[in-house]
Amino acid sequence: MTSSQDISAEAKQVLITNDRGGYTVPTAGLYPYQWNWDSAVAALGFAQFDVDRAWVEIETLFQGQWDDGMVPHILFHKSDPGYFPGPDVWGCEGPIPSSGIIQPPIAATMARLIWAQDEEAGRARIETLYPKMLKWHSWIMRWRLHRGAVCTTHPWETGRDNAPDWDNTMQRMDASDVGEYTRRDTQHVDSADRPTKFDYDRYIKLVQIGRRLKWDQAAMLAESPFRVADPTMTFTTLRAARDLRAVGQSLGADTATLEADIKRLEAGAATLWNPALGSYDSRDVLSGEWAGCVSNASYLCWFAGVENKDMLARLRAVMERVTYPVPSNDPEADTFDARRYWRGPTWAIVNMLIGMGLADMGHEDEAKTLAKKTGDLIEEHGFAEYFDPFTGSAAGGGTFTWTAAVWLAWAGGN
Ligand code: GLC
Repeated sequence: MTSSQDISAEAKQVLITNDRGGYTVPTAGLYPYQWNWDSAVAALGFAQFDVDRAWVEIETLFQGQWDDGMVPHILFHKSDPGYFPGPDVWGCEGPIPSSGIIQPPIAATMARLIWAQDEEAGRARIETLYPKMLKWHSWIMRWRLHRGAVCTTHPWETGRDNAPDWDNTMQRMDASDVGEYTRRDTQHVDSADRPTKFDYDRYIKLVQIGRRLKWDQAAMLAESPFRVADPTMTFTTLRAARDLRAVGQSLGADTATLEADIKRLEAGAATLWNPALGSYDSRDVLSGEWAGCVSNASYLCWFAGVENKDMLARLRAVMERVTYPVPSNDPEADTFDARRYWRGPTWAIVNMLIGMGLADMGHEDEAKTLAKKTGDLIEEHGFAEYFDPFTGSAAGGGTFTWTAAVWLAWAGGN
């Protein structure tokens, strides 16, 4: 039996091993750069044993911020031929070579949590970060809203790459002219755990479209075939607005705009309720069609400060249905696939966000159970990228930063 202290020591070691000096890679090989939301979670992990390093992680992320406020989903600090698509494919011109899309904006939430652990010394750090985080938030509010819900322009932006949420939209896309390219992901891990070629062709096609439009948001709004209002982007942005408001108030800033943003986003979150499905769902804003998917992101409502009794009943049911909740797709759905990435597996990072939300909204029992089951999963199956929700078996990459960080910050010691 490994003790929980031993696992914490291993978790720490994972963060240290994946540290590339100022930023952390999700895992060596498969993901050799700095990823936006992974980095925010890594920071929270570091905060459990090295708070200065925690701040540095977020500060490095914001060094990649574009002039217009956008914070890219990947920063290519040092080129690595083992990853595709690299900086030459994206063709972006930010301060650090990067991708041209974003990821769920959880950095503000993590920065606020880190500040709570480092109140005095952290004040100067958060004061410097605050205007940058606000600028990114304003960029999202300016470019990505549809009826108040936050849209994604690429499946990668949501962090839920091959979720069935995008299936209908992807089916309508023509990627016949995408050209030849060599995938690198399937050279690192089992292709049965990864997205299909059909999906990959469309991911690359969307990158080609963004590049042709020079990542100009107005042009993309007019031309891109992919725009989906989604629970991940909407709930994390709403949460970020609340955290930014709290930070702003502590710093004595005027938070009237954030107040208004929160109202808009709350109204937007309500537009993601699919009454026929009885769940928060993704909505294709170009076709008006529902995706019809209950994903793990559907349960991020509490993280956003949104209460919903039907979601709570659903959560209790799925926690009974699978050994290791929360599955990224409804186990009863035709599209469910226990090992394929975001079409079924359990992801510790999303569990942590769901659990934080549950605790904030007073659902202590569910929050504790979820943290305990996530802790058991990591204890029994290691710091994997994601896990089979029925057997717990590890899938995707190993030695994974955010799984280790989740252990240190939330799931360990339960
Ligand atoms: C995959 C995941 C995404 C994550 C990235 C790096 O693309 O779907 O959520 O940020 O890997 O770990």
